[in-house]
Amino acid sequence: MSGNTTVVILAAGLGTRMRSKRAKVLHRAGGLTLVEHVAAAAADVASPDRIVAVTGHQADEVEAVLAPLGISFVRQIGQKGTGHALAACREKLQGFDGLLMVLYGDTPLLSPATLLRLRDLQSSSGSAATLITTTLADPTGYGRVIVNGRGDVTAIVEQKAATKEQQLIQVINSGIYCFRADLLWRHIVELQPNAASGELYLTDMAEILTRHGHRVAALHIEDPDELLGINTRVELADADRVLRERKCRELMIEGVTIERPETVTIDMHVRVGADTVVEPFTRLLGSTQIGEDCHIGAGAILESAVLADRAVVAPYTLVANSRIETGAQVGPFARLRMDAQVGPDARVGNFVELKKTKLGKGTKSQHLAYLGDSEIGAGANIGAGTITCNYDGEHKHPTRIGQGAFIGSNSTLVAPLEIGADSYVGAGSVITDAVPPKSLALGRARQVVKPGWKKKKDK
Ligand code: UD1
Ligand code: CA
Repeated sequence: MSGNTTVVILAAGLGTRMRSKRAKVLHRAGGLTLVEHVAAAAADVASPDRIVAVTGHQADEVEAVLAPLGISFVRQIGQKGTGHALAACREKLQGFDGLLMVLYGDTPLLSPATLLRLRDLQSSSGSAATLITTTLADPTGYGRVIVNGRGDVTAIVEQKAATKEQQLIQVINSGIYCFRADLLWRHIVELQPNAASGELYLTDMAEILTRHGHRVAALHIEDPDELLGINTRVELADADRVLRERKCRELMIEGVTIERPETVTIDMHVRVGADTVVEPFTRLLGSTQIGEDCHIGAGAILESAVLADRAVVAPYTLVANSRIETGAQVGPFARLRMDAQVGPDARVGNFVELKKTKLGKGTKSQHLAYLGDSEIGAGANIGAGTITCNYDGEHKHPTRIGQGAFIGSNSTLVAPLEIGADSYVGAGSVITDAVPPKSLALGRARQVVKPGWKKKKDK
């Protein structure tokens, strides 16, 4: 069924109203760029070899973002309007008969279901094109849709060109169209530069096709949310909120408890297992994957983190590109980064930082430590205030601590260093040399006590 549908995504504009150095379609909502959302919806109605994105402003960056989807690209040279952008695909799409759907890269809330409805209506209606419309309480900024007595679209009038009367029309053009490809390519050459802006408006196709005796149908959608076109950062924030709400709702339906979901930020690709509890003000970002029966405390930020089942992340903990195994507990106020790995049932407490460090099963580092470039065996205990000195000013060096080792509080471990299994390091030591298994290492000055010292001093 999707075999005869081609999708073109217009994504070449700068987006002046964003007031940004970055092309509008590269701004993010719900953790993805706007154009990625549109392309994902397109992928549900056409195969990648029948999806084309028109790029222009920051074309390299836009194409890099979309390349993983396997779609192809056409460059629009000079951004002379939406009609000009589509016309740029003419050569590329020669021989692609059937239906041609056009989407704007700035409408991230589109659902695939709506696109399928559009395609089906266009296939069955016998019109030259169908466009999606909706009714807005405040239609400012959108193209207004003019219909005849039969409900067919005869013209679209842009905000700037609309008369006072036309400005009262609340039915707007969503910018989502499905054309009969043959008729579109035959008549697109008739687009004339808009009097006010000098651009070629794709919206003028409604009038052109009508003039040639063809019908242009409207698919009216009740929920205008889905059709939101992002032009300003205010609308960007609106879209972001809707996408976050959708994501939380989806997870809750799948069995995740989310407390005060309106305060929680979860990116589109994040996965969370059933019976996991997510407390308020958490951020679950990037490719984060969380198992079942986990608990994510308030204010925690997880970015591309992997948590096995029953892992606990206590409040205000940061986990980036790191892994927490089954039953392990991390935080509050801990920081894991750059491939930290916390073994099953291990404990990492407050103000502990792990960088490129692996903790074995059941190992504990409960308070105030920096463990970097380290590998620590199972069942070890790392005392409060332990620091691995992994950097000599030029290079990073590894620390290895064997299983069952006990590192006394406030130890300074100067890397490269190896501490054997089941050995002890006395509190307050500076350890520079290897410690063999089952030994005690003390690296501090012996305490001196001078009895009666005060009396002598006072004499
Ligand atoms: C457009 C429609 C308007 C509709 C609204 C819906 C036109 C003339 N107007 O207005 O009727 O109500 O969308 O959101 O089409 N683009 C290019 N090349 C260009 C110009 C734009 O690729 O030369 C791309 C942009 O990157 C953007 C999309 O087309 O993704 C829409 O352009 P935009 O300027 O946002 O159109 P609107 O003014 O919102
Ligand atoms: Ca727009």
